[in-house]
Amino acid sequence: MAVIADRCPDLQVTVVDINQDRIDAWNDSDLSKLPVYEPGLDAVVGRARGRNLHFSTGVDEAIASADMVFISVNTPTKTRGLGAGQASDLRWVEACARQVAKSAVGHTIVVEKSTLPVRTAEAVKAILSAAEHSVDGSQRSFSVLSNPEFLAEGTAISDLESPDRVLIGGEHPEAIESLASIYGHWVAHERILRTNLWSSELSKLTANAFLAQRISSINSVAALCEATGADVREVARAIGTDSRIGPKFLQAGPGFGGSCFQKDILNLVYLCRHFGLPDVADYWESVVQLNTWQQHRIARMVVKKLFGTVTGKRLAILGFAFKADTNDTREAPAIRIAKDLLEEGAQLAVHDPKVDSEQIARDLQLPASTAPAVDSGPTRAALSGEGTWWPSDDVASALREADAVIILTEWNQYRDLDWSVLAPLMRQPAWLFDARSVVNPSEVRAAGLNFWRVGEGQS
Ligand code: UGA
Repeated sequence: MAVIADRCPDLQVTVVDINQDRIDAWNDSDLSKLPVYEPGLDAVVGRARGRNLHFSTGVDEAIASADMVFISVNTPTKTRGLGAGQASDLRWVEACARQVAKSAVGHTIVVEKSTLPVRTAEAVKAILSAAEHSVDGSQRSFSVLSNPEFLAEGTAISDLESPDRVLIGGEHPEAIESLASIYGHWVAHERILRTNLWSSELSKLTANAFLAQRISSINSVAALCEATGADVREVARAIGTDSRIGPKFLQAGPGFGGSCFQKDILNLVYLCRHFGLPDVADYWESVVQLNTWQQHRIARMVVKKLFGTVTGKRLAILGFAFKADTNDTREAPAIRIAKDLLEEGAQLAVHDPKVDSEQIARDLQLPASTAPAVDSGPTRAALSGEGTWWPSDDVASALREADAVIILTEWNQYRDLDWSVLAPLMRQPAWLFDARSVVNPSEVRAAGLNFWRVGEGQS
């Protein structure tokens, strides 16, 4: 919404939320304190806020005065009841639809921005049209559009400013053109696609499923490379130069994380089962299963290389966010890998430039300990059986006396580390496990470290 406000100074955009603290944070004069870390967002908010971008808790007033309402709420995977573990929890979408139905005045275009299961618009339409025939005699009417978002975290602003495409699904041409004219302020006409409602909703889930499928495919090949002596980077380059395949999303790693891929695929799986397509459901479910397997595989491999045990050993985890340039840890591969290592009794020093320690504690469901005194003695492993972790502010202290360092997020700063300085800080023989292919292998080996990186076989 901030980018819409920035690009369309003639429109008034009000972002509303019932959470006062969140709105206060969006209104904070210190732009470094916005509730979401996203490169470039502070500048966009700085330009538009107070001019034509407003943050408020006045939900009903904002709806009443709006010509268009975007529903952009969370749709997490249901944790209980029908479809638990797969279907999306739509209670917030429904609550929004009911609030819009109650407070809207005149004709209102309601835009589904949240990622939603196919045919959600039907439920939204049913709630809204019940209000059109309201007993209070007020005149209201609605058009429902689906306008899914394709931005990726970390590159959100540039994705929004120059999108591959904008997708608008709907039934009423006038409503579609009204939304298209907003994007038309900065997006080329041919990049604004118009579809029916259901195609639009399904396209969003399918796009994420295809992207995630490529990652699971390349991660499966990475394991095969390690077993056969091939190198997954070479294979990715070789297949990616085929213009039918293309080079993007072929980076092997610790598995995909983030709030969307797993959730959206599980949603697709649920829909397929619901519509009587169990084979299609199994096909997509295997993408998530391979991803989970990859994360456990990395943890298992660390244990195996460290003589079959990490109990009491110090390990440094570099990177906890699900990808670089974000402080988001939702479904981050680091969570599952760190939990597996904690289960084995490891002592983890966790470093991430943007993720705070409270978030890590919540994700690991384990409060932080204080960093134990450094002990390089041979009996260290025998001392403690309990897994512990503590946050580390800098890479060097995370590595001090560690038996291994595991890189799980591709932060740029990890590309430039000087291993000739860092390696001597570790307890020898020490390992570097590079799950993101960010370090220079020859520099690491020259520094005397044992080295593993994803998808690199020993030829
Ligand atoms: C993803 C999609 O890329 C967006 O198009 C979509 O709008 C968004 O979900 C959403 O539905 O909201 P996002 O999750 O922010 O965006 O980030 P991605 O860049 O797609 O990365 C997802 C995960 O895949 C990360 O853990 C990343 O490290 C991993 N990844 C990505 C790989 O392991 N290899 C790759 O080659 C690319």
